[in-house]
Amino acid sequence: MKNIVIAGGSGGIGLELTQRLLPKYNIHVLARNRRDLPQAPTIHFHPFDFLSDQALPVIDGELDALVYAPGSINLKPFRSFKMQDYQSDMEINFFGAVRFVQHYLPQLNKQRAAIVFFSTVAVDSGMAFHTSVAAAKGALEAFSRSLAAELAPAVRVNCIAPSLTKTPLAEKLVANEARLKAAEDRHPLKRIGQPSEIASCAEWLISDDANFITAQTITIDGGISNIK
Ligand SMILES: NC(=O)c1ccc[n+]([C@@H]2O[C@H](COP(=O)([O-])OP(=O)(O)OC[C@H]3O[C@@H](n4cnc5c(N)ncnc54)[C@H](OP(=O)(O)O)[C@@H]3O)[C@@H](O)[C@H]2O)c1
Repeated sequence: MKNIVIAGGSGGIGLELTQRLLPKYNIHVLARNRRDLPQAPTIHFHPFDFLSDQALPVIDGELDALVYAPGSINLKPFRSFKMQDYQSDMEINFFGAVRFVQHYLPQLNKQRAAIVFFSTVAVDSGMAFHTSVAAAKGALEAFSRSLAAELAPAVRVNCIAPSLTKTPLAEKLVANEARLKAAEDRHPLKRIGQPSEIASCAEWLISDDANFITAQTITIDGGISNIK
């Protein structure tokens, strides 16, 4: 059975990915809380906070895939952002991902392994109020492509860039009917994303079906970035 570490595998898109991989993988989940993580012999929960100075958990054995899902959506006008906001967005979206990969890279399968990160559609689209998260995820995307170059051919490294998706992280953005309707209307496909629609792409990216794909950012956005 293959081994995977999913940072943030207990909530939102990460939880959906954990559930999809459950029959096929031995899954190590890193998060602060178990949340709705199922109890199963193949799921191993390691409490961990990427915003702390704790050492990352020791996980024995060879690993076939790493997925880093923790992130933020702090949306404000530029004038309202403090430097601290930019710093904390970089911590969770970028430095957390770097620490994660640094720690587990030596254990990755030397022949064939995969790494998946989560970016945002706002990196390439220029969306108001997104200066902080777009910058942090932009750093992550650039890191991901350079890492893909260094680790090829053994390790494939890719990003997924979703638009608004129905998860706990996005709850406050669609907290009432009017906000949800406005968000749906902004998307050409007239709805927001479902966690399963993003997790299925991650599942595919770490599978052998995606063995010729590396250094890509795959946008999943209901058409919002390309249709005017
Ligand atoms: N949802 C969207 O609309 C959307 C849009 C664009 C991009 N994205 C990106 O997609 C990724 C997944 O988002 P999501 O909506 O599924 O997020 P989510 O619902 O907040 O789930 C995030 C997961 O990461 C864990 N996590 C968060 N902070 C952590 C920390 N400091 N240390 C350890 N674990 C932590 C959470 O568990 P604990 O809180 O218990 O630790 C949870 O398991 C993120 O990178 C996000 O930026 C999401």
